[in-house]
Amino acid sequence: MSKKQFEAIVPSNIAFLKYWGKTDEDRQWPANDSLSMTLSDLHTKTVCEVISDSEHRVILNGSEVDRDHKAGAKIFKHLDFLKTALGSTSCLSIKTENSFPTGCGIASSASGLGALTLAAVAAWLDANHLDQLSELGFPAERLADLARMGSGSAFRSFMGGVVQWHRGEDPSKQNVSAPFNHNHWPLMDSVVLFSQAEKSVGSTEAHRAAWSSPMFAPRLAAVEDRLDAMKDAIDNRDMRTLGPLLEQETLEMHSVIMSAETPVRYFDKETGDFLAWIRQQRRDLDLPVYFTLDAGPNVHLIYENHLHERVLELLHSRIPAENILSDHMGAGPSLTIRPEEV
Ligand code: DP6
Repeated sequence: MSKKQFEAIVPSNIAFLKYWGKTDEDRQWPANDSLSMTLSDLHTKTVCEVISDSEHRVILNGSEVDRDHKAGAKIFKHLDFLKTALGSTSCLSIKTENSFPTGCGIASSASGLGALTLAAVAAWLDANHLDQLSELGFPAERLADLARMGSGSAFRSFMGGVVQWHRGEDPSKQNVSAPFNHNHWPLMDSVVLFSQAEKSVGSTEAHRAAWSSPMFAPRLAAVEDRLDAMKDAIDNRDMRTLGPLLEQETLEMHSVIMSAETPVRYFDKETGDFLAWIRQQRRDLDLPVYFTLDAGPNVHLIYENHLHERVLELLHSRIPAENILSDHMGAGPSLTIRPEEV
């Protein structure tokens, strides 16, 4: 007899306006609102079941991890938090895997902590689908709020389309919404991988360093106008307006990172040369494709779906096919159960 298993799939997301810097780290209160596009094929799948052991069992990408393991520690810490938040007494067996290559540097914490949250809450509440979770008092916003405590960017992975993290007036007033659903404007994200190495400085530490950059205060003063401009461009499906804003935004975040008291440089010459090349190609070919980067060396190219073949052809002239991961705007998480076999 095997027990009932709860399978959560939560997509990654790519930030158009970055969550960078926290006003209150303990309560995961960001310094500014952020805006992202929910992805689809780049996701984490987590399968969970309740067990009678006195400790959780966690299999991460095929290997068992414990509390002393680097990635395992974050998972166990979040499980402890969820268990307390839900008042549960049982432990869980968890199998989690990413659809993208492990450690390839694309945001795995948003999808990973998101899928962990959804699968664990469903297992503890014995909820078979998302509507049932909602009826039990756990709609997407509440699940997102729990996931946020594991990793901030996970807050934006619980809805499809373009998602906004509203920081609110105080940490308890944070919320999340999807100003545009996934059918509003079919966009693609092709990720170009330059390094699969683990980051030298984790993003949690780098968020902290932002406050020491002389560029951070001016950024915070201007970021709201950029958010409005991005939302207007998305509303009008205007890539030639959105694109330059995406690039300014990501270069500004990296300028903050590089000018902090303990500076970090997340990308090297290869990435820098690629960014210049993309800009040149855009001009030469009149191809509206624009870049954004998270805190890492890999480049996300954002463009309208109908340009996909042209963009891929262009990329293949420079980048090996196995270093390109293409995805489209997605509809958000899913939850299914694997029926009990008796
Ligand atoms: C650059 O969500 O990884 O991807 O809350 O400390 O886990 P923690 O940070 P994390 O920060 C992600 C920052 C970013 C930009 C973004 O996704 O908005």
